[in-house]
Amino acid sequence: MVKNIAVIRGDGIGPEIVDQALKVLDKVAELYGHTFNYTDVDMGGCAIDKYGDPLPEHELKKCVESDSVLLGAVGGNKWNDVPGHMRPEKGLLRLRAGMGVYSNNRPAKIWPQLSDASPLKKEIVDKGIDFIIVRELIGGIYFGEHKTEGDVATDVLTYSESEIERIGRIGFETAQKRNKKLCSVEKSNVLDSSRLWKKVMHRLAEEYPEVELSDMLVDNCAMQIVKNPAQFDVIVTENMFGDILSDEASMITGSIGMIPSSSLGATTCGLYEPIHGSAPDIAGMDVANPIGTILSAAMMLRFSFDMPCEADTIENAVSAYLDAGYRTADIMSEGGTLVGCRQCGELIIQNLRKG
Ligand code: IPM
Ligand code: MG
Repeated sequence: MVKNIAVIRGDGIGPEIVDQALKVLDKVAELYGHTFNYTDVDMGGCAIDKYGDPLPEHELKKCVESDSVLLGAVGGNKWNDVPGHMRPEKGLLRLRAGMGVYSNNRPAKIWPQLSDASPLKKEIVDKGIDFIIVRELIGGIYFGEHKTEGDVATDVLTYSESEIERIGRIGFETAQKRNKKLCSVEKSNVLDSSRLWKKVMHRLAEEYPEVELSDMLVDNCAMQIVKNPAQFDVIVTENMFGDILSDEASMITGSIGMIPSSSLGATTCGLYEPIHGSAPDIAGMDVANPIGTILSAAMMLRFSFDMPCEADTIENAVSAYLDAGYRTADIMSEGGTLVGCRQCGELIIQNLRKG
């Protein structure tokens, strides 16, 4: 198959981690006889420097016209003082909205090889950590009106029933394919938008009788994720709660550097990115962990290109790499062999075997 991939290296460690993922994709293409064409897209701080805009229309167009988008990370201290609507992150939000990718899937799964890297007690980790956060990605407070007038700043949080319903369906469908437990997370003791959220989830539950729906307030959920993560199968939640909970969930699996994500909307053209940021403090030092990006590329093959064997090939290679004891600095522990970003990519490539 021939697939056209828009590639956004972005800022900070973005370029170095994306380069490793592309090398992995090239090797997979060779093994399975595919052709992956790459189109470079400028987004984030680098686009601000080049065009004075974090995501110019012509760059967004390349993404929308691609078969899928692979993204490293955007942002950095250098652009901290630019006005809000011009920040690098604004490019990312415009990209998500422009692609219509409302459903963000963030797995929190502990690799058995990394159970020591979790900050949780062993007896909690041993009960298992394997759940998915389905995060609504193009609504809520991120996309409401933002304004500052004198000494008052306002951000508006709005959800419509249809926005809740479409992400709710993804939550139920994801749970249906797994252990059939869906936890809807909101703040319905305070927010109107959360009360609407809860109502829509319960209405949908009637259409998915085999899925067991539970409700949880977001503050309690933050607590339960560290207290008893084994209770979760799929969590569905709104944009900002999902942002916060997915960072928390990643940490209990050892490192945010390991976690990929997929974002999809009405078509198979998806956005694939690690959930971590651009880590400007370690940019260009060849110490970043590229696995979050490499696994994001695997998700692209699985969810957008219908290439499950190819995706398994990548995930198995990551597992074999971890089995061999190699560790980037973020997950380094006693007895491991410390490797850099590039070497990590190369070692994973050596473990790619056609399934
Ligand atoms: C994420 C990031 C982004 C978000 C930022 C960079 C805008 O934190 O993907 O989780 O808040 O969605
Ligand atoms: Mg985040």
